[in-house]
Amino acid sequence: MKKKILFVASESVPFIKTGGLADVVGSLPKYYDKEKFDVRVMLPKYMSMKDEWKEKLTYKIHIYMDLNWRKQYVGVLTYEYQGILFYFIDNEYYFGGNYPYGEAYTDIEKFAFFSKACLSVLPAIEFRPDIIHCHDWQAGLVPVFLDHFRFANDFYKGIKTVMTIHNLKFQGRWDIKRVQDITGLPPYYFTSDKLEAYKDANFLKGGIVYADKVTTVSHTYANEIQTPFYGEGLDGIMWSRRNDMMGILNGIDYEVFNPATDELIKSTFSSVTFRQGKAKDKADLQKFCNLPVDSKVMVIGIVSRLTDQKGFDLIARVFEELMGDQVQVVVLGTGEARYENMFKHYDWAFNDKCSAHIYYDEGLSHKIYAGCDAFLMPSLFEPCGLSQLMSLRYGTLPIVRETGGLVDTVEPFNEYEKTGTGFSFSNYNAHEMLAAIRYAERIFYDKKRDWNKMVERAMNKDFSWDNSAKEYESMYEAL
Ligand code: ADP
Ligand code: GLC
Repeated sequence: MKKKILFVASESVPFIKTGGLADVVGSLPKYYDKEKFDVRVMLPKYMSMKDEWKEKLTYKIHIYMDLNWRKQYVGVLTYEYQGILFYFIDNEYYFGGNYPYGEAYTDIEKFAFFSKACLSVLPAIEFRPDIIHCHDWQAGLVPVFLDHFRFANDFYKGIKTVMTIHNLKFQGRWDIKRVQDITGLPPYYFTSDKLEAYKDANFLKGGIVYADKVTTVSHTYANEIQTPFYGEGLDGIMWSRRNDMMGILNGIDYEVFNPATDELIKSTFSSVTFRQGKAKDKADLQKFCNLPVDSKVMVIGIVSRLTDQKGFDLIARVFEELMGDQVQVVVLGTGEARYENMFKHYDWAFNDKCSAHIYYDEGLSHKIYAGCDAFLMPSLFEPCGLSQLMSLRYGTLPIVRETGGLVDTVEPFNEYEKTGTGFSFSNYNAHEMLAAIRYAERIFYDKKRDWNKMVERAMNKDFSWDNSAKEYESMYEAL
């Protein structure tokens, strides 16, 4: 008998994406052993999904569900994509709008609704999962509602849950009174050993407390979040659940991110042919960015949400100094206004050296991963990070801060032993970052052979899902 697994998440490629969570939810299920597991995915049906996807969904059923005193419509649509069945929870009141997320206040009700709806529709769609695998705070109430449902309904008895933390910073918090009013959960759930944290109701904490297993997306982050600096106020609960918690490193979709077949880049290449192939992609990128087309100058890429998490205050601190070096910088990202404006300004002030693209563009992201020499990711914290994995795959050497998944995936260059796949620095300090960038420049300009060997090693690393999917499978089997 196949084990039935249901993913519950707020985003997934190819339907809707704001960050790495979507990459993980949309790719991991494909890599499970189909003989042993039937994995399906449940997502909100956002109005903001592209029409090309919305048109493909087919209506399956609908029910009406109580959310305390509210009675809400819950529609279910389905679509099978690359062998995986996706369910979409439909409710225009909650999932309208131009963006999946909005004000914290409305998101709280939106995802409380979503979590309860995911459980409530299961009998109607005739799918009883053995395990529900919940991702991030938006699915945090699933294990809590499940606990509550079990008393009244045999259907839910024996279903296990896994809570995966992709980012502990986002927890879904609001005052207890309102969350009680939204969820209708009894006061019993709102104590400090359950949902309550710092006087608020906390969705992610609920998930962590009630899930049978807790995972996060790298080994280093799993350890870090048991400490006050990285624990975002929940280090105590992380520590207390440490025996049920494990880090499983993210992978990336090696079919989508494959420099040898990628149709979004100018010239495909492999770890054998990158010297010619990458050079063409670099020239193509420079041309697209209106930068001088020069194969000799080192091009540094950034593809990122523009937030504090990603270390942009360090970049702000030394960017003008960096612009004195012989480098070009290409940025693709959206996020906090101050960083968007900062890069627009640098693009203008250093016109022939910096090119900033303040929008979201899948195609350009691939061009950057393929066409740059180095990739900068000086994160303050990083649960796993996928961008550096994409860079490695395309032979673009990451320059990273030693935190979270960046530690587990980027091996710093060792000049003497001729090992490593990138460059790193340890303290959250702008000049330490600049020193790491300059060290990379030195190798790039003066030790080309070492650099190229590093590119070869980076490209030959395996960050596909093959290994990590097996770790999830063993965890499911042990449950
Ligand atoms: P996070 O999930 O914290 O944002 P990750 O490194 O795990 O960071 O994943 C980020 C994902 O989002 C990567 O697939 C990256 O290529 C993509 N991405 C981020 N910003 C943009 C953008 N402006 N355009 C295209 N892709 C982007
Ligand atoms: C989060 C983290 C990122 C991780 C991604 C997918 O957005 O910030 O580090 O790679 O989730 O797990």
